[in-house]
This record gives sequence, structure tokens and C-alpha cells, in this order.
Amino acid sequence: MLGAVQGVANPKFVRASGSTPKRVSRGRTAVRAMATPNDPSSQSNYPVSKVTHCDFDLTVDFEKKSVGGTAVLTATVGPDVAADTLVLDTRDLVIESCSVDGVEAAFELQSDPHPVMGTALTITLPGSRAPGSTFSVAVAYRTTPESSGLQWLRPEQTAGGKHPYLFSQFQAIHARSFFPCQDAPAAKMTYKARVTAPAPLVALMSAVPGESPESLPVADGMRTFTFEQKVPIPPYLLALAVGNLEARDIGPRSRVWSEPETVAAGEYEFAETEEFLQAAENVAGPYVWGRYDLLLLPPSFPYGGMENPCLTFVTPTLLAGDRSQAHVVAHEIAHSWSGNLVTNETWESFWLNEGFTVFIERKIMHAMYGKAVFDFSAIGGLMELKETVDRLGADHPHTALTPVLEGGVDPDDVFSKVPYEKGFAFLVYLEHVSSGRADADADAANGHPAFGEFLKAHFENNKFGCVTAAGFRASYEAAFPDAAKKVDWETWLHKPGMPPVDVGAYYDDALARASAELAKKWHLCDVLGMGAQDRPEGASASDLEGFTAAQIDHFLLSLLEYRGGSHPLSLPVIRALEELYSLSNSKNSEIACKWLQLRLGAGDTEAFEPTAKALAAAGRMKFLRPLYRSLRRSGKDGEAFALKTFEETRAMYHPIAEKMVAADLGV
Ligand code: BES
Ligand code: ZN
Repeated sequence: MLGAVQGVANPKFVRASGSTPKRVSRGRTAVRAMATPNDPSSQSNYPVSKVTHCDFDLTVDFEKKSVGGTAVLTATVGPDVAADTLVLDTRDLVIESCSVDGVEAAFELQSDPHPVMGTALTITLPGSRAPGSTFSVAVAYRTTPESSGLQWLRPEQTAGGKHPYLFSQFQAIHARSFFPCQDAPAAKMTYKARVTAPAPLVALMSAVPGESPESLPVADGMRTFTFEQKVPIPPYLLALAVGNLEARDIGPRSRVWSEPETVAAGEYEFAETEEFLQAAENVAGPYVWGRYDLLLLPPSFPYGGMENPCLTFVTPTLLAGDRSQAHVVAHEIAHSWSGNLVTNETWESFWLNEGFTVFIERKIMHAMYGKAVFDFSAIGGLMELKETVDRLGADHPHTALTPVLEGGVDPDDVFSKVPYEKGFAFLVYLEHVSSGRADADADAANGHPAFGEFLKAHFENNKFGCVTAAGFRASYEAAFPDAAKKVDWETWLHKPGMPPVDVGAYYDDALARASAELAKKWHLCDVLGMGAQDRPEGASASDLEGFTAAQIDHFLLSLLEYRGGSHPLSLPVIRALEELYSLSNSKNSEIACKWLQLRLGAGDTEAFEPTAKALAAAGRMKFLRPLYRSLRRSGKDGEAFALKTFEETRAMYHPIAEKMVAADLGV
């Protein structure tokens, strides 16, 4: 370990008398015995002391692939016990020196780093610190090229091809590879930053920026940007991007940033942003973050979107040209309340972030486009949940709403649709029973006023803090005592498999029906040989006329559901689908991905090359993982092709995506 040697071998390493550093690997045991909350994904000694603010002064070095400088952490000792150390999470960082209140302090890096949680950094506080007292720790450090939360792009990996690019992705536990921190969602802090980067590149962070890039002086070819985040955020919401960036205004509090080559496309695609924001405020309460800007990233960005405060990061695979993927922006906006303002206390209750966010996302769509759209996307979500549960197995522990992460389970390994869609279904159910009607009632998704008020109060009462499932349950019980008694909390929260209640019965399938019926026709024609020439009776190119992109997507989702893994469509039917509907020409990345999955499932080897092209074009895990899986499942040749394609393209993937795909492929 790079830093471990450094810390221990540091000749200035001195132990303040009476404060022998604890064996860091036992740090967690000590924390657990002392206080709650416990965070199974952090080795820090939060909340013995709490970091409440961080001041960064950092320089970005593209040649060395390193960000370095100082992080000055302000910490307050908790109310119960005195502190003699501050234990922080790190991973792949070089720690150069530490000082406490201006006095050089001894530090030690864990000699046996945890494979998932990283290398704990124990800083000895000179003299024990009393409960309630505040101290400041300055750490001089730098990241290494191995830091999992950063991706360094060479110019040829960008749209412009001339400048390098750096971006971060810290959720769930990668902030520790950027700075020494209490990398626990409950350890919220404000921050200020100075970031020095080579001109003409622009640095952006998840905060309100200081002066505009043009007004900054260039010295020695470098410019220094400043940022301030006044709202306390968990470390995973810290974010940094540096690249050749330009902005266009898209609303009174919003602009879209991207490389000049893609900024106009972003401006068009995300034009509904202000409307989404206003709809979200009506559902969830005032927007506290000041700005809501978007950063359109290069194609290797591993997620669809990431709700970094003040500056959502989005993948360019949203650029369908028709705003059909804009609901991802509604989703990230929704996180301004669920996740960013009110945060899951640990990653075991991730559904409190994502399930609530999907709920608000669909409420936004409801407000703007009507209940039919809410129901349509809820039906799709339930189908995706079913696909996940079928694929993992109905008794798989990761299909429980609350997974167990104790023992250092990597939250990235547990990631799936479950917290999103089972969490959403749970809220729909709770809304439904709160109205006093436990029966299937098509009106339920229309929203019950009392539940709407409850949701707003949830954000108002917990703002700037965290929530647990137990706390949420208690407030629901207080608000809806009779309804709460009907809820099987234990099964919903802890049992694997599909939800105990079929919430699908609440939805009106008006918009889904046409897609589902068309899919059924093709399915029956294939299995029962109905129709002529490998296509259903009367099938024609006009079948999809009047379908929105979302309905075409739903048609493919329905086909995938009918024909899941083991019952592929026959090749002639695949050819007929393509002939009539030209699905391969879709600019919508969701449609393109599902169509390739169907073709690969049918053993269509002509789909190999276009799949390889898609796998090289973008590194969004939502597409990489099912496409690699489908290739792999499509026989020996497919598996060999998957491995070959991965070897050829892995260098362009984000470290997180590379790791997840490697695990999926067993390499
Ligand atoms: N916060 C997530 C992305 C994330 C989750 C990153 C877990 C790292 C760990 C983000 O809000 C998200 O859910 N994005 C979705 C879009 C959405 C519409 C469901 C995505 O990336 O596809
Ligand atoms: Zn989300």
C-alpha cells in the first residue's frame, strides 16, 4: 500500500503521550460499542467525532493523474465520550502530513487494508478532546491513478479530442479515494474549495461556483476556481469535473455544461428542467440548493445520472433527440429532497433514497403529463422489478428492500432495481392504504392529499439530516395509525422476493396496453405459429405509428418479459420485427439496448458487431451489464465474443464499470 509505508516510516511520527493510536482494524468494534448510528461501510470513528466542514485547496495534475493539496476538516467531538483520535476512511491515497489545530500530528495508515472499505487513517489528537469540543485537522495528501472514484480521460476519449478530462463518481463509497473523510452518508458536512486546473479547462463541483471562468486570471497556465456548498452533504455527494467545458442557460436557475460539441444537444434535450423543478417543489417543498445545473459528461460516465448537488451529472446516452429520456433529469431533481436533503442513514436503507426518488420522479411526470404517464411508468418499473427478482431468485437476499451489508459487503455489488422499484411500490402501497382503501383502486395513484402532506412533512422534519426505515415507520404510524396496522412491515422491509401486495392492480394500463398487446401478438405468433410469414396476422410498419419512444420501449420490455432468457424468439421473427419496425435505427439508447438483448437472446450472431459497437460507444452500466450478460448467455461464441470485446474496450470504462463487468464475466 502506497501510503501505509509512508505514514509509518515518517520520521516525524510521534505519539502524543497518553494517546496510543488504536489498532485501526479494531476501530469499528470500538465505534460500535460506543455509539449509534453504525455504518457497516465505513471504518471511520464517526460519530465519536463528527466532521462538519471541509476546506479544500487542490491542484489537478493530468500528467500524474493525481489531485493533490490539502483538506482541512473541522470536527466536533460527540456529546458522550472524549476523543483521542480521528479515524478517517481512505483508499489509494498518499498521505503526506497531518496537523491538528496547526500542530503537526502523528498518523497511521491501516496496515491491513480492508478489500472493500479501504485503508483507515488514524490521526492522533494531541491531547484528549472533551465532548462537544471542536478541532481542525489539516491533511496534505494526493490521490493516485488507482483512485476508484476518479476517471481520467485522454483527449481522444472526449467529444472534442483535444483536451483531457477528469470526472468523479463517489456514490456509494468512493469519496474515500478522493479525500480522507468519514465516508458515511450520515456524516454530513459543508464544504468550500479552491481548485487549480490548467487553462483553458474549467473546473466544476457539486456546489455554487464563485467567479465565472472567463473572469479568472491565468497564472503559469493555471486558473483557480472557487466553490461553496453551504448545505451539509454526505461525502458521497462531493463531485468534481475538469474539462473543456462550455455552458448554455436552460432556465432561471439552470444551465447545461458540456464540451462545446454537445452543448446544443444538451440544451434541447433538457429544456424541461425548470418545469420539473417547479413540479418537484409542489410535491416535496422548497428547493434549498440555489442552482440546479447539469453536466453532460463524456460517454464513459457509468450511470444515467448522478444527483450531485447544484450540478447533476448525466450520461450522453440521454441525448435521444426527442426528450424521451428526460425523466432521468426529473429523477435526479427529485434527489434534491430524497437523498440530498434527507439522506439514507447507511447504504442498507438505500431504498429511502432511491424508492422515494422514483416516487417523486413519477409524481413530477404525473403533474406534467397526467396520471396515465405515472401509471405507465409504474407498470414498467414493476416489470423491471420482476425481471430482477426472477434473475436473482425470489429467495436471494439482495431482493430484500433492506440488504445486510455488515462485514464489509460492497454496496456496488448489491446495486439493482430492487431499492428503486420495490421501494417505489412500497410507497405506492403506503399511499394507498393511507386513504383507508386496502382494495385495488384505480384512483390510488392519483395521490391522496393526506399522504402528500405527510411526504412534505417528511422532508421538512428531516431536512439536513438522515432517515432510517424505523424512523420512517414511526412517523407513518403517527400520521396514519389505522393504516399502519394493516402494513406487513417485516415482509416489505426484510423479506426477499416480490412485494407481498400486488400494487400492479392499482395501475391503469391505458398507455401500456397497446405495447403489451402488440408484444403478445408477436409472442403467440412465434410460439403457436399464428399468422403468416413469421409475423402476426396483419402486422405492418404502421403498428408503431403513434407510439411514443416510451411505448416502443415498453413493447420491447414486454417481449423480453415473455421471452426471458430461456425462451428466445426465433430468428425469422427477429428478422420480421426488424424488417417492419427498423428497430436497429433507434436513437433511443433504451430501445437500442433492449433490441440487442432480444436479438442476442434469439442467437442472432449478426447482432454481435452492433453490440460490440454499443459496448464501445458508452460505458453506462445499465447497458453494459445486460449486453455482456446477453452475449455471454448466447452460447460459446457469444461468450468468447464478450470476453474479446471486454478486453478491447475495458480501458475506456470507468473503474467502477470495469470492475462490475469483470465480475459479471468472471474475469
Ligand atoms: N444515485 C443514482 C446513481 C447511483 C446509484 C450511483 C448508486 C452510484 C451508486 C442515480 O440517481 C440514479 O438512480 N440514476 C439512474 C437513473 C434513474 C432514472 C433510475 C441511472 O443511472 O440509470
Ligand atoms: Zn437515483
